[in-house]
This record gives sequence, structure tokens and C-alpha cells, in this order.
Amino acid sequence: MEHTSHDLIWDLSAIRAQFPALQRVHAGQPVIYLDGPAGSQVPQVVIDAVSDYLAHRNANVGGLFATSQESDALLDDARNAVAALLGTNDPNEVAFGSNMTTLTFALSRALGRTWSAGDEIIVTRLDHDANVTPWVLAARDAGATVHMIGFDPEDGTLNTDDLYAKLGPRTRLVAVGCASNSLGTVNPIGEICRAAHEVGAQVFLDAVHYAPHRLMDVAAWGSDFLACSAYKFFGPHVGILWGKRQILEELDAYKLRPPKDTLPDKWMTGTQSHEGIAGVRAAVDYLAELGRRTNDSNLPRRSALNTAFQCIAAHENVLCRRLLEGLSALPNIRVWGLADPARLEDRVPTVSITSQSISSRELASRLGERGIFAWHGNFYALGTTESLNLEPDGLVRLGIMHYNSREEIERLLHTLAELSR
Ligand SMILES: Cc1ncc(COP(=O)(O)O)c(C=O)c1O
Repeated sequence: MEHTSHDLIWDLSAIRAQFPALQRVHAGQPVIYLDGPAGSQVPQVVIDAVSDYLAHRNANVGGLFATSQESDALLDDARNAVAALLGTNDPNEVAFGSNMTTLTFALSRALGRTWSAGDEIIVTRLDHDANVTPWVLAARDAGATVHMIGFDPEDGTLNTDDLYAKLGPRTRLVAVGCASNSLGTVNPIGEICRAAHEVGAQVFLDAVHYAPHRLMDVAAWGSDFLACSAYKFFGPHVGILWGKRQILEELDAYKLRPPKDTLPDKWMTGTQSHEGIAGVRAAVDYLAELGRRTNDSNLPRRSALNTAFQCIAAHENVLCRRLLEGLSALPNIRVWGLADPARLEDRVPTVSITSQSISSRELASRLGERGIFAWHGNFYALGTTESLNLEPDGLVRLGIMHYNSREEIERLLHTLAELSR
């Protein structure tokens, strides 16, 4: 397939060449990866960093010999890289773990111990369940009340008026996603953080779905916690938890003896995936390098990341607009969430559809047979699919990433037209 950089802001073929997976052919056709929201593809530099660690530096941390010291240094470097990605100046606020879900459960148990009967927490139906159930269970254990915020079924935007109305002196936590992993809606994060802080509540952000698409900025948002996962932003399977230093220091963490009770170790349990963390650092630097290549090769990491994400957003928006326009011409396909190509600023390029003529499961399966890899179901955003009465068949999620091309979107639209006739 020809990949032109036609009206896009960068050399897409040079980007695609860095991802070995994009060479895969299925049933005689190049594979189109639209499964990124469940795990993005990985550039060669990340694969190299993982294998370099295992081949040459593999050791546990804290020892008095070279490979262990190099492992310590690697964790420090990776924390620096992730701090730049999140927008904090304090790398010791960054903790690694297995995945977002596990880290969120650890934090929810610790925070829940500080809540009591009559306290209130706020979660949303637009969220992945990993940003709902950990808080609901912690609230149950503490006897706290849970408020569930809905969304507009027409355009998939969060009902922020209801959220603000539910905030009060007993609100302890607002747990909200930066972007919906099922409908793609981007939430007004800064505004939500400000409103929550006015009543003295803390804010936990799930940035898992947002991270590959837009630059995170914990300082500008003013949130208290954030979690994300590197396997969604071109890295390996490693989870990341961030919190404001003072809160992380003051809060009690469940720890083994002898407890490593100071940052950055405090919120990490057990031995980490060091090879994965080597890959996380490489993934952040892959992104920074994208920015440097399109702008200035000497840009510091955060500025380079800023440029990279501006380019990523511009490229994704071109593809997303074309996809939404193309889908609107298919009579049997319905787009759930923001379908208006004029509202790209309010969404990331994750477009979920159903077909009138074929189930979501069947549609995903037929796409898969034709080399178009996309997920179907509820993607653990159970509150969303239940609210939309889409259980049990769910949606088909077309997850665009910056490595996708216009030609892929055209082939997708053509195939969807054929399958949903
Ligand atoms: C928005 C969102 N939050 C949380 C998760 C869970 O992340 P993890 O697999 O790292 O636990 C996912 C995974 O799909 C997600 O999309």
C-alpha cells in the first residue's frame, strides 16, 4: 500500500518504518491496526531497549555491582522521562507498577482508609471500570457514598453540570478519565480539578486512553493523582502512577517489611519489570524524537514532546475527520459519541460504531479476516455500554493512532461499506 504524506504534517512513511508490526500481512493484505486503544504497536527503539536491558544489564536494584547500579540508574532515567511526559518537575512523584488497574487498587485501598461514613466520592459512567470499581469498593469499605455521573447519550459528553452539583463539603474524591476509551470524548479536566478543589476534594485522573493522543499536563490541570499505562503509548506493559509529592508522602501505603517508605519507592511493590521500564523510557524518547525531527533537534524533552503531540493531534484529526465523514455516508452504520467532524477538539480519534445489518462481534470478526484489526465489546467501559443499552454485543471500536494512514482509512471505509450493506 502506498503511504503518502499528502496534506499531513510529517513524513508518515518514516514513522511507519519504525514499527515492525506494520509490515504484517494478513490474507494477502497489509494489516491495518485499529486496536491501539487496547494496546498500541511498538517502535523498534522500544524493542531494542527491552532486549538491551535483558542482554546486558539484567539485575535487581540496590546492589553494589555494575548491572544493579545500571538498573538503579535506568529507573531514575525512566522516572525523569515519564515526569517530562506528565508535566511534573519532580521525578520522584512517579511510581511504576504492573498496570493502571493494579496501581489504582493500591491507591484506592490507601485513600479509602482515610474516608469515613458520610464521606462522598464521585465516579462516572464514561470511565473504564478500572477508574470506577476500585473507588466503589474502597467507598464500600469506608461506608462512604458513591455518586455516579452520567453522560449525554447523543454526543457522549460528560454531564459536568451534574458533577458540579454533586460536589460538596463531604466530597473526598473525584475519579474521572481524561478521555473515554469507548467513545473518545475528552473531558474538561482543568475545570473539573478546579471545581473539586474548591470544595476540598481530591482528583484522580485516568489518562490511559488520553496518553497516546494528547500531551498530559498534571501541573496545568492541577490534579492530585494520575495513572496511565505505557503499553497504550507505544511502550511495553508497565503501569504508571503519579501523585503530588506531599500527598504521596503523607498517605500510608501497604508495604512489606522492612518498608521502603520514602519516595520514589514508597508506592512501588515487589520487583519491577526493569526491561519494561527500559522500554518506557525509550517510548517517551521515541515521542520526543518525533517532536525534534519536525522542529528543532536540540529541543529539551518536554518541549519536544509538546511539538510531537501537536503533530500527532494534527495528523489524527485529518484521519478522524475523514473517518467521520466517510461513516456518515454509510446508512447502516451508527457512530456513538461525538460524530460531528467540527468537534474534533473535544475528542480523540477513537470512533465506536454499530451496524444495523450485522452484530458488533460479527463485524469485528469480518474486519479481522480482512486484515483490519479492531476490538468489539465494551472495553471494560461497562457504565458506558450499559447506559447506551448496548450490552451484550457492544460496539466496534476503530482506534486511530498516529501511525495510521489516510489510505488505511479509505480501505476501512470501503470494507465497512461492503460489510454493512
Ligand atoms: C481508559 C482506560 N483506563 C484503564 C485501563 C486499564 O489499564 P491497565 O490495563 O493498565 O490496567 C484501560 C485499558 O484498556 C483503559 O483504556
